[in-house]
Amino acid sequence: MSWEVHIEWQGQTCLVGRLHADSRSPAVSFEYALEWLKRADAFSFDPTLLPLRPGAQHGPMLFGAIQDCGPDRWGRVLIERAVRKKVLDQKPYRDIDYALALDDASRLGALRFRHDAESPFLAPSTGKLPPLLRLQALLRAADAIHSDTATAEDLRFLLGAGSPLGGARPKSAVSLVDGRLALAKFPKPDDPRDIAAGEILALTLAAAAGLRVAEHQLVPVGAHSVAVITRFDRAGQARIPFLSGASLLGLSPGDPGAYTRLADGVRQFGHDVTGDLRELWRRLIFSLLASNYDDHLRNHAFLMYEAGRWALSPAYDLNPVPEIDRVRVNKTPISEDNEEPSIDGALAVAPRFGIKAAAAKSILREVFTAASAWRGTGRKLRLKAATLDAYASAFDHELMDETRKLLKA
Ligand SMILES: Nc1ncnc2c1ncn2[C@@H]1O[C@H](COP(=O)(O)OP(=O)(O)OP(=O)(O)O)[C@@H](O)[C@H]1O
Ligand SMILES: [Mg+2]
Repeated sequence: MSWEVHIEWQGQTCLVGRLHADSRSPAVSFEYALEWLKRADAFSFDPTLLPLRPGAQHGPMLFGAIQDCGPDRWGRVLIERAVRKKVLDQKPYRDIDYALALDDASRLGALRFRHDAESPFLAPSTGKLPPLLRLQALLRAADAIHSDTATAEDLRFLLGAGSPLGGARPKSAVSLVDGRLALAKFPKPDDPRDIAAGEILALTLAAAAGLRVAEHQLVPVGAHSVAVITRFDRAGQARIPFLSGASLLGLSPGDPGAYTRLADGVRQFGHDVTGDLRELWRRLIFSLLASNYDDHLRNHAFLMYEAGRWALSPAYDLNPVPEIDRVRVNKTPISEDNEEPSIDGALAVAPRFGIKAAAAKSILREVFTAASAWRGTGRKLRLKAATLDAYASAFDHELMDETRKLLKA
């Protein structure tokens, strides 16, 4: 089976090549189209696994850039339920089937897929994106998924134009009042605390710490809160090519990568290499001080504004994890040595990010100052005292103590 792969680039949808999937194994192959290769501004949409060259290129599983615009845990659950309820007719069984089950209009990044020139882009749009006003209905439908009581109607609603983006948590695509795309991240019935509040707090602190962050807002829905994050892979109607950090490095499943490896990736494929390396190191410090422990390389991404160069996207999916939950999450190691994360360890690798000792110390001070102000910032966001208390150990811990001492020295 095979599909045309297109990319929207500078307002035009261009054929880049053809993807073939083996029907009996996860193996795939891709061949760039000659018309794409001939262009002066041709670029690779998956620079590590699919360098720009003629002929078939093979992979043991779906290429990272294509996987990036498919569903992750949450989306797969929805698709499987939809098959069970006969909302979708064919059981998807390969990664590519899952990816192609998602709505074309809200698909992450700029890739688009179709069988041939006569067929529509997959999956054909089923209607308008739900507006922010429908958050309550979306949240109710997401809850029905958790309790396994979702109807065909719920599934059509969640899988329709509001197709799931990647990630594990329940979410939906929504449109903001001004028409921009956003993703709404819902609570789960078994959440131990207000996760959306924690994410918005972290994004607010991150901005105060000098990070570039995705536009965000906390929207109360009944007794719950929903984090609404504006999509950064769209500029008006135009789609911007997207690549996760994991895909930039061509990581195999189970390989956590490392910040220093991502820095090497930026050096090789980056847009503003100096600026993005600095930003990346600042994100590393922020993740350590704000206990953003679910910091895997799909929570870092790159966008393309200049052909062939990948620019670090705004930061997203920052979640403070209190001490009680820390054992269950893994994180991106600081470096290939994979030592216990420490501020000392981060300072030791600063030169690999092009950062001198004095500059590292001032970044550390800025991030520390912002993270230390977490409670006051939370109050300004009108988070409840009990919600904030639940996050206390995410901001009061040994790495903060280590930083305090270092900054005094
Ligand atoms: N503002 C954004 N614009 C475009 N794409 C985004 C944005 N925020 C997140 N994404 C994409 O959507 C995916 C899921 O979002 P996010 O990481 O916030 O969800 P999650 O369910 O909390 O993830 P995880 O599985 O890491 O817990 C991300 O991996 C990224 O590919
Ligand atoms: Mg994520």
